[in-house]
Amino acid sequence: MKKNTKLIHAGQNKKRNSGIVNTPVYHASTVVFDNMAHMMDAQERNIKKREKNLFYGRRGTPTHWTLQEAISELEGAADTFLTPSGLSACTMAILGCVKAGQHILVTDSVYEPTRNFCDGFLSGFGVETTYFDPLIGAGIGALIKPNTAAVFCESPGSHTFEVQDLPAIAMAVHAHNTASRHIMILNDNTWASPLYCQPLALGCDVSIQAATKYIVGHSDAMIGTIAVNEAALPGVAKAMSAIGLTLGPDEAYLGTRGLRTLSVRLKQHHENALIVARWLEQRPEVKRVLFPALPSDPGYDLWKRDFSGASGLMGLVFHRTSYEAITAMIDGMELFPLGFSWGGFESLIAPSNPSRSVARTAQPWTEPAPGLRLHIGLEDPEDLIDDLEKGLARFSKALG
Ligand SMILES: Cc1ncc(COP(=O)(O)O)c(C=O)c1O
Repeated sequence: MKKNTKLIHAGQNKKRNSGIVNTPVYHASTVVFDNMAHMMDAQERNIKKREKNLFYGRRGTPTHWTLQEAISELEGAADTFLTPSGLSACTMAILGCVKAGQHILVTDSVYEPTRNFCDGFLSGFGVETTYFDPLIGAGIGALIKPNTAAVFCESPGSHTFEVQDLPAIAMAVHAHNTASRHIMILNDNTWASPLYCQPLALGCDVSIQAATKYIVGHSDAMIGTIAVNEAALPGVAKAMSAIGLTLGPDEAYLGTRGLRTLSVRLKQHHENALIVARWLEQRPEVKRVLFPALPSDPGYDLWKRDFSGASGLMGLVFHRTSYEAITAMIDGMELFPLGFSWGGFESLIAPSNPSRSVARTAQPWTEPAPGLRLHIGLEDPEDLIDDLEKGLARFSKALG
């Protein structure tokens, strides 16, 4: 079955939902049983066998199963766990793969809160983090220590947009596996969504989504998904069960609802973003447009090889810049509201200052800062370009 067809039908279960197209929202904490035998059986099936049967609200309802099954199918995963935000998907996935006394390798381009989790929290539990150059490729093999338990990638990085050579990383890392040791490779796959990249097929063990972005797609709910292969499943299941995170059923419903239109939305994000990126790279103020789908981007060849499309998030680096110039541009935008996050139907703008706000340690970012991060939404690109043109005029005027 092709991907767009999968997207429409994945996780649907007519029988389970009495023929209703969208799985209804099941609000549940207590689930009552007919008798002791029924309860013991439900417990055995849910907790030991990990079947999708009703046992207790925190352990999922049909509303959750629909989204889990759909993501598993799209990511090619053995199973998927749902969390209440993208960040908690990153942190729970890591917690499911490392123990005290172990070591984790993390890309230097990682989303800043994931980095803060490693430096400010995991370190307190005796887990050591080493950051690596996102472009390291097979060279990562040299960084593996006897206690390395996991490698965390994010491709492309959501501020600096380096595309990582996941197959080369996976091959070099998994070469260190033995009968008693499997080093887990995790990838934050939010930029591409499971529609445009399947990290498990590229050799990763875990694919993470901040489903808050493109899967929800309407800027009105927060969800994280952790799609795992058989090797990663037991560790992540144990962490999820021990910590007790659960996703609200309304959010799960919105996730599945968003998923059904992901293909048409992403196609338009890709098309609009490419038009805007091509225009931006001709502008005299702009030094670099960080967007892997542009042939001028250093990650273009890897993107062409491993991805089947691009989303709408990109970075801008200027030849000369200042805080005042960036402020003059941002504050006058009409179609690019200033806000965190991305992946909704609308365009957004935010300052980007990776060299200062993200303290990269393995491969410092030396481009002029601040730059900008743009999310290109579903508006007509001509209107977006018009708004950006006026914004760049304010930027240049403020720069003097
Ligand atoms: C790449 C990436 N991963 C994870 C997250 C976290 O997602 P959430 O905001 O849902 O916690 C974000 C949020 O911006 C992100 O950009």
